[in-house]
Amino acid sequence: MRGIPDLAEVEAMDAADPLRALRDRFVLPEGVIYLDGNSLGAASINVFKEIETAAKQEWARDLIRAWNTAGWFDMPVQLGDRLGRLIGAAPGQTVVCDTTSINIYKVLHAALAMRPDRSVIVAEGDSFPTDLYMAEGVASTRPGTVLRLEGVDAPTIEDLIDDHVAVILVNHVNYKSGRLRYMAALTRKAHDAGALIVWDLCHTAGAVPVDLDGSNADFAIGCTYKYLNGGPGAPAFIYAATRHHGDISQPLSGWWGHARPFAFEQGYAAGSGIRRFLCGTQPVLSMRALKGSLDLWDEVDMTAVREKSVALTDLFIRLVEARCDAFGLELESPRNGAERGSQVSFAHPHGYQVMRALIERGVIGDFRAPSTVRFGFTPLYVGYRDVWHAVEVLEDILRTGAWQEARYAVKEAVT
Ligand SMILES: Cc1ncc(COP(=O)(O)O)c(C=O)c1O
Repeated sequence: MRGIPDLAEVEAMDAADPLRALRDRFVLPEGVIYLDGNSLGAASINVFKEIETAAKQEWARDLIRAWNTAGWFDMPVQLGDRLGRLIGAAPGQTVVCDTTSINIYKVLHAALAMRPDRSVIVAEGDSFPTDLYMAEGVASTRPGTVLRLEGVDAPTIEDLIDDHVAVILVNHVNYKSGRLRYMAALTRKAHDAGALIVWDLCHTAGAVPVDLDGSNADFAIGCTYKYLNGGPGAPAFIYAATRHHGDISQPLSGWWGHARPFAFEQGYAAGSGIRRFLCGTQPVLSMRALKGSLDLWDEVDMTAVREKSVALTDLFIRLVEARCDAFGLELESPRNGAERGSQVSFAHPHGYQVMRALIERGVIGDFRAPSTVRFGFTPLYVGYRDVWHAVEVLEDILRTGAWQEARYAVKEAVT
């Protein structure tokens, strides 16, 4: 596409959009342009239906029997297999459970135990903070374990890899800039040095197609409340390649990961396969919400999602740069769509106020300190016209200085 499209051209893009009909399956408030599906995905009719069935029919009617009659007990692995399709994982390697933070802890421990003669964890200095906090937590339980950080100890991850490295914890898509890494190449580099690699797919699953199996990845973790639309606090996932299953020991050795949980034996005996990563009783209603969303995802082709995602983010960048050029915004995301996830970030010295003003006018994105305004584009329910109108509102706020109103500077707990 050349030049800046006008509204008629943008509407034509919507008319030709193969994913357009999916918008009606989501429940979004009138007058809202939702550009924060990279933080919390929108609610869908499918999800409401599943929660209602699980609560009113299964729980209320079947009570404890529902663990068997409604298949609650097997949901973590069944949902894991279904989610696997979206991240290039063959069945039996993905399990839905716990939170991303907890899963990072389990996986890093497992990886370190698989490389007992090595003591270094490599991560990114600009990683999502919980990844680093959890890595610190793991290191504190294993004397001698050291954290090496990209951007702190060396300019690139590749520079940090040597034969002391046990495991690399790396984001496929950076939460702030949206920068995307090439999975196969970095995985190969890790393996060449004898290290294992854990991919954080929080900003990938449901946004960017990946091939964990094809890339020969060792482990991955990620959340389901962003692009997968599983609902607030929806359970996270873990992927572990089949070739590692026999070697995995994880520290949260609860009864759900036991080989025979209902034998009530003394002493832990790890279960087989990916179930070994389970710990305790899982949140059934949240699992069912995720099931509802995965039912919808079964109808979706990830290639079409990626094509639209790149087109939406391209359009947004071009319109913002054409219309808001004079107002101090600086692009923080890669300009090349092939190097970008499904989000666009701009730095602005008063980013927090700008975002608050946008949200008050119905354009919902978010803010990441110190100065990033972040916009996520979810191809399932965001259209090209939404992008057009969001930029119109942004331009108005910046041109009129409306963001300077004092109330926009009051910090809320969640930004
Ligand atoms: C890259 C990344 N990792 C981890 C998390 C969060 O983990 P948790 O679900 O445990 O809060 C996020 C949340 O935004 C994230 O963006």
